[in-house]
Amino acid sequence: MSKGVFETMRTYGGNVYMLDAHLQRLERSAILIGMKLPESMTTMRQRVVEGVRSRHGDYSLKIRVIATAENVAVEITLLEITPNISQGVSATFVNLEREPPQEAKQWPYTQCQQAHQRAVDRGFFDALLVDRSGIVREGAYSNIFWVNHGRIYTTGEHILQGITRQVVCEQVPVVLGQITAKKLLQCDEVFITKTTTGVTGLVAIDGKTIGKGKVGPVTAKLMEYLHALE
Ligand code: PDD
Repeated sequence: MSKGVFETMRTYGGNVYMLDAHLQRLERSAILIGMKLPESMTTMRQRVVEGVRSRHGDYSLKIRVIATAENVAVEITLLEITPNISQGVSATFVNLEREPPQEAKQWPYTQCQQAHQRAVDRGFFDALLVDRSGIVREGAYSNIFWVNHGRIYTTGEHILQGITRQVVCEQVPVVLGQITAKKLLQCDEVFITKTTTGVTGLVAIDGKTIGKGKVGPVTAKLMEYLHALE
């Protein structure tokens, strides 16, 4: 499989959520890995918009754009989301550092896909990637936030700058920081973000309860904001 970059997007009410931000990140990812995109941003945008339009209906769609130096594939499928995630999910720690440059969404995505699949097979929603210093950087498929005494934090470096992470940071004051796996377990609230599922509360990690073991008030408020887009 030749090397490339990719984006995963979704629709809300027939419109592609943060389409331009996703395409700009695709372009940035390509620059970071030194690859020239074979199509212009305008062409890719048009292909996504027309692809979604041709699948009219009131269901949500998942759009994946995979670009190599030779070709751009646009795949549109029905968005399938695990039921009841609004009540909170659990995750598991995995010692893994994504291949640099970490800010690029590189294809193939083997490391993260394997870590995520292993977590899902064991009943977890996502794997939390812990680096060699014991810092939790992000999820295999998500960014991570934690809440202590009403203050919201997220990792600032060596991560994929998630689109939904950015949406949250523009919505509420967020402090950039670092947290170890051990300290994360002691937080009042932990939540993860990604484009396809928005904001999701983490109520347990490796069987250990986070906070009160249910979705906390800060997480719930942010979830409401994203649901309002539906
Ligand atoms: N990507 N961090 C990592 C390592 C990710 O793989 C993802 C999502 C995110 C969240 O980014 P965004 O908010 O832009 O979705 C953070 C999975 C593979 C996906 O795109 O489906």
